[in-house]
This record gives sequence, C-alpha cells and structure tokens, in this order.
Amino acid sequence: MNKKIAVLPGDGIGPEVTNQSIKVLDVIAARFGHSFDYHFAVVGAIAIDQTGNPLPDATIDTCLSSDAVLFGAIGDPKYDNNPSATVRPEQGLLKLRKVLELYTNIRPIDTYKALHHLSPVKARLLENVDFVIFRELTGGIYFGKKEKSADGDAATDECTYSKYEIERIAQLAFQYAQKRKNKLTLIDKANVLETSRLWRTVVQEIAISYPTVTVNYMYVDNAAMQIILNPAQFDVVLTENMFGDIISDEASVLSGSLGLLPSASVGNKAALFEPIHGSYPQAAGKDIANPIGSILSAAMMLDHFGLTEEAHTVRKAVEWTLLNGFVSKDIDPVNNYSTSAIGDLIADHIERNIGLSVSANASLNKSTII
Ligand code: IPM
Ligand code: MG
Repeated sequence: MNKKIAVLPGDGIGPEVTNQSIKVLDVIAARFGHSFDYHFAVVGAIAIDQTGNPLPDATIDTCLSSDAVLFGAIGDPKYDNNPSATVRPEQGLLKLRKVLELYTNIRPIDTYKALHHLSPVKARLLENVDFVIFRELTGGIYFGKKEKSADGDAATDECTYSKYEIERIAQLAFQYAQKRKNKLTLIDKANVLETSRLWRTVVQEIAISYPTVTVNYMYVDNAAMQIILNPAQFDVVLTENMFGDIISDEASVLSGSLGLLPSASVGNKAALFEPIHGSYPQAAGKDIANPIGSILSAAMMLDHFGLTEEAHTVRKAVEWTLLNGFVSKDIDPVNNYSTSAIGDLIADHIERNIGLSVSANASLNKSTII
C-alpha cells in the first residue's frame, strides 16, 4: 500500500515525538511491504514565526492532497499569557479541523496494569477501564460567534449546534458501540442548555436504529465525578466539543500519563492523528518527552488505512516497552529512557519481527520462519 502522509510536527515537543512515529512507520512499511511518503508542513507558533500565519495555505494544500495527517503539538508560552495577541498558534489547529471537516475526534482511554500505580486513582478502580470518547470537533462554543463589547467590559462566545452536526457524529459513535460493548453514554448539560437538549433529542431518535446499543444520559458535572469514581462503567462516550475537551484531559489521568494517549480526528477529507498532549514547552529539545501518545496515534492511522495487523504490531511493541520499564521521565522519574531511545526500542522490536504474525507473513507470501 502507498500512502501520502502530511506531517505537521508543530511546536514544542511536537517534532521530537513525531520523529519517533516516523521511525515506527518506516519499519512497519519495510516489514509489511508498504510505502509511506511524508510531506512536511508548518503549523502553530513555528508557522507564525516563519510566515505570520498559524496555518499557511501551503500547509492546507499539503493536508488536502494527503491520505492522512500526522500532527505533533501546538502552542507556545509566548502567547499563553498575552490575551490581547490577535494571532495565536491554536487558531492553526482549529482552522485545520474546520478545513478538513474533522467533525469527530476519537480519544481511546486505555489503562495498562504495569502503570496502575502512576494514576492518582486507586488501582482497583482501574481494572477493566477501556472506553472511547467521541468528541464533536468542529462546532459548539469553539466556533460560535465571538464578541467583545466596545468598552471591553463584556464578552460573548455563542454555542450553536445543528441537528445535522449532531447526527453525523452520533451515527459514528453508535456504529462504534456496536463493535464494542454496545453501551453509549451521552454527556451533556440538558438540565440547563438548549444545545444539550437538542443533543438528547437527536441521540434518542438515532438510538431507535441501534436496538442492541444501551444508551444512557449523564450531565457533564456528574460525568466529571463518575470518570474518577467508577471509570469502568463507560464504553463509548459521546459529547460536544468543549465538554469533550475537558473530560478527555480528566480521563487521561486514569492511564497514568497524558503522554500516553493518542487520538484520531475523522471527517469528510484526510483524517488527522495526534497525541492528546500539548506542546510541553519546558521539555522541548531535551529528548525527554513521552513519544507513546504520538506512536499510538500513528497506530490509529494504520487502523484507519485498514492495516489492522500493522496497527496491532505497533500496539504490541508499545506494550512491550511499558512492561519492560523502557519508559520516559513522566512515567519513571528515576529510571527512564529518552524520547529517541524509546522510539528506537519500539522500532527495533518491530524490526526483529516479534510482532509479526503468521497471517501477515502469509499474505506477503513470505516464510513465517525468518
Ligand atoms: C485539544 C486541545 C485543543 C482544544 C487546543 C490546543 C485548541 O486542548 O486538542 O484537546 O481545545 O481542542
Ligand atoms: Mg484539550
């Protein structure tokens, strides 16, 4: 299989972690007989520095003409404490989501037994935690009308959702629930917000077509508590843009480190794959960041291409590093490995064909005894 991949390393630790994913994709390509062509482009603060624009047209063109986008991270402290900055790195990511029509953001929340001790949540509550957040990504308050009064003493962010915007992500979430434990939880604030009541109405209508899926509804304040009290109750979680942003960061603490979690954003054009962590500027250039969130995002990209065996091979190699203590500083502050060393270990593990299964070899017409 030949695929063109737009690579947008972005800011902070983005380039370092993305390089590890490329290493891993390269060994996957070699082992399984694929070719991945990478086309690099700038986004975020680095793009502002180079062009004055957080999402230059050349970057948009590269993404639109690619099969998928591998994204690093975005953000720079020089903009964080300057509320009057008119151009901000984050605008690049938001615009890219809009341009690529990435209306569904999928964030799997997995926990690893070897890392249970790292979570502030008690290990017994982490047993069987395995859920997926479907976050709406191109609507709601993020993209509503924004206004500041002339005197600067009042500001408005409008939150609007259309039935169509809710339906398209809800369909994907229900289909996904069917492939899992047939359980879907809609997180909203329907006791207060009109948009949330529309979400409930639309989800109730769609639920009729998915009789095997049990649907329950949870207010976001309660959900914030339930994610910590009883995280194993969730299977597929469906929610709007801002609630999804907040609860996915909260849910990430279950896994022990934000640095482990990947995401996929899908829509009508090229899909985008990015770790859920930020640009972590304090670590930039130090080779200490956790590359696993990016590498698992690359695995989601392989799944998206239909390369299930390949994706599985990457995940197995990641698990092997975690089990053997080949981990970065966020996971073990005393005995740890550098970003690039972890990338090398995962790539070597795949190369030494430990993850290569009989069926993959058979489909390549190769001997299974290499
Ligand atoms: C995320 C991030 C972004 C968001 C920021 C960087 C704009 O927090 O992907 O979760 O709020 O969506
Ligand atoms: Mg976020």
